[in-house]
Amino acid sequence: MSTDTRADEAASATTDNEVGPDDGILAVESLRKEFGGLVAVDDLSFAVQEEEILGFIGPNGAGKSTTFNCVTGTYPPTDGTVWYKGEEVTGTPPHEMVKRGMARTFQSFAPLEDRSVLKNVALSMMDDKLVTMDGLLGEFHDEARAICERVGLGDRLYQTPAELPHAGMLRLELGRALGTDPDLLLVDEPFAGLSGPEVESVSDLLLELRDEGMTLVVVDHNMRGLLQLIDRAIVINFGSLLAEGSPDEITDNPEVQEAYLGGGLE
Ligand SMILES: Nc1ncnc2c1ncn2[C@@H]1O[C@H](COP(=O)(O)OP(=O)(O)OP(=O)(O)O)[C@@H](O)[C@H]1O
Ligand SMILES: [Mg+2]
Repeated sequence: MSTDTRADEAASATTDNEVGPDDGILAVESLRKEFGGLVAVDDLSFAVQEEEILGFIGPNGAGKSTTFNCVTGTYPPTDGTVWYKGEEVTGTPPHEMVKRGMARTFQSFAPLEDRSVLKNVALSMMDDKLVTMDGLLGEFHDEARAICERVGLGDRLYQTPAELPHAGMLRLELGRALGTDPDLLLVDEPFAGLSGPEVESVSDLLLELRDEGMTLVVVDHNMRGLLQLIDRAIVINFGSLLAEGSPDEITDNPEVQEAYLGGGLE
C-alpha cells in the first residue's frame, strides 16, 4: 500500500459514516433531523462503547439535545438509523426505549410539583402501570428511597420539588432517570448552574454509576467539569461531527477552538 493510500484511508476513517449495529451499545448512522427548513442534525454518525462516559460537546444550538431526542424516540429522525444493544430502534417511542434500558435527563424538566421527591422517583419506576400512586408507593418505597439517597436527596424525601435548591432539582432529575434502571443514560446538562463543589459531587455520582456498569453520554457547557469526567468526546457543530477524541485531543483541536470562539472553551 502506498503512503498516499494509507493517508487517504486514515483521512476517510475520521469522516466516513460507516457505523453499524455492533459498533457499540448505541450506534447512530447518518442521523438527520429537520424542523421545517432548519437542519438541526446533519448526517451525524457515532457509536458509544459499553461502560464509557462519552462527552457530547457543541456550542448552543449545535443539535445535542435534538440528537438525544432522536435517539430516545422523543422525535422521529428525518433520516438515518439508530441501533441500541445491536437492534435497530429508529423511531421507537420513548416508553419502549425506557423498557429496553435507555434513560435520559432533560435540560428543562418538569417534576410533579405536588408530589414529594420520594414520590417523584417512585413514579418513574412504575412504568405504565395503571394503579393509584399511593397504592403503589409501598411496593417501590424502599427502592425509591435508596435512589433518593444515592443522588443526595436522602434528607429531602418529603419535600416538594419547589422546596429544593437548584442543585437538588438536577439531582431529582437524575433520580427519576435512575428509577427506570437504565443501562445507558443520556444526561443533558447536569452541571448547569452548579458551583464547583456541586459539579464534583455530581461527577462522582456519575463515575460511580459507570463503575457499576452503566454507560453514560453527557452534554454540558461546563468544559472544565466535563473534560475531567469523560473518557472520550465527540464534538458537533451545526448538527455535524466536528471532532472526536480524548479530552486532551479535543482541547487542542483548532477547529473545536474555532467553533467555541467567544463561547469560552476552557
Ligand atoms: N422542537 C423544535 N422545533 C423547531 N426547532 C427546534 C426544535 N428543537 C430544536 N430546534 C432547533 O434545532 C437546533 C438545535 O437545537 P438543540 O436544542 O438540539 O441544540 P443544543 O445543541 O442542545 O443547544 P444548547 O446547548 O443550547 O442546549 C436549534 O437551531 C434549535 O432552535
Ligand atoms: Mg440542548
